[in-house]
Amino acid sequence: MPATILIVDDNELNLRLATRVLEKDGYQTTTALNGFEALELCDQNPPDLAILDVMMPDMDGYELCRRMRENPKLKHTPIIILTALSSVDDRLQAFDVGADDFLSKPFVPAELLARVKVFLRHLEVRAVGNENQMARKIAVFSLRGGVGVSTLATNLAAGMSQLWGDETALVDMAFFNGQSALMFDLPMRNTWGDLAQIPEEEIDAEVLNQVMLRHSSGTRVLAAPRSAVNADQISEEKVSHVFELLQEQYPYIIYDLPHDFSATTLVALDSADKILLLIAPELASVRAAGMALTVFEELGYPDEKVELVLNWNFQSQGLPRGEIEAALKRKLSIVIPYVADSIVTAITMGKPPILSMPETPLGALFEDLAFRWSAPEQKKKRPESPTDAWRRIAERMRKRAKAASS
Ligand SMILES: Nc1ncnc2c1ncn2[C@@H]1O[C@H](COP(=O)(O)OP(=O)(O)O)[C@@H](O)[C@H]1O
Ligand SMILES: [Mg+2]
Repeated sequence: MPATILIVDDNELNLRLATRVLEKDGYQTTTALNGFEALELCDQNPPDLAILDVMMPDMDGYELCRRMRENPKLKHTPIIILTALSSVDDRLQAFDVGADDFLSKPFVPAELLARVKVFLRHLEVRAVGNENQMARKIAVFSLRGGVGVSTLATNLAAGMSQLWGDETALVDMAFFNGQSALMFDLPMRNTWGDLAQIPEEEIDAEVLNQVMLRHSSGTRVLAAPRSAVNADQISEEKVSHVFELLQEQYPYIIYDLPHDFSATTLVALDSADKILLLIAPELASVRAAGMALTVFEELGYPDEKVELVLNWNFQSQGLPRGEIEAALKRKLSIVIPYVADSIVTAITMGKPPILSMPETPLGALFEDLAFRWSAPEQKKKRPESPTDAWRRIAERMRKRAKAASS
């Protein structure tokens, strides 16, 4: 059954435009010319998604959104606010009243469709039925803070979504100060904190689906709690249970880990197929990496489970690669160069570089890394409908191969 989308706008022409765009793409639409009509329609027949205009007489889009959220039936319905106003204030207001996304008017049809698709993708997944292949889980870790764990985890998650065209889960395990949602500029409507309060037996795929934030890149973020009180209440058992549910739903799961060996961190490290151990080219970081490697060995992790990633998170004199490798008695897999301005801009804008600048060397590097750490079986063959990211990666590999052979 096609998904039903409610469009609310006081302008008939706008309604017709949006309806046409969506119906051409196979969606079913219902329309309302004002907020009251919309509320009634929604109550009788809750839509799968709603698109609201802001400027309407009597009840504006923000107020409508707020009232929709009061209805339990509409609590988790994706709501996109569409408006000619687009100041930061307007966007904040949209998120304040519980909207999931925001699009400025006049909208580009392709952009509207792309957003809608992201929000409704989980419906399609359920309709098609999950093939239940096991997810590939990648943990990004360092015992020392500030070396780029979250930066790499965020870009890798967005990279997997863009590369394979599937939703990817980014799980923020830094319960006390995790910033993943922020790095995607996502309002933290729901977080691990909500899961802390729900008994384990009540947490199922549906609940989890509602708690995970949606980013337009196809990345779904399980955000860290807003308050430290809730952070304390997340047990290992609950984490294991949530991981099991995630594995049934997502082909890739990326863990953004805190800088410790807490019980919940260990659950993530144990369950990971691959651990990316981040190192900055300075003594304290190398020492922390050495300690982590010792613990991994004691835990019995096979060597190939762990890869070392050197990240130049500062510009000045750092330790040479050779010395780091000698100290750790291991080879580094990857070196990420220092890229201050672009990374900092990306973070303050809430846009991972891989999304905001795929054509730059940094964006390209993160794309290539997403491919590198993808499931071996998936890497072997060309996808039926390759994504733009896949094409760019393939092209770069072709060029590198050519350069190497000439
Ligand atoms: N390659 C890099 N070049 C420049 N700055 C970087 C680089 N990697 C990370 N940073 C900066 O380092 C800071 C810490 O990064 P973050 O990913 O939050 O680290 P962690 O999660 O390990 O604490 C961020 O402000 C980020 O902008
Ligand atoms: Mg972090």
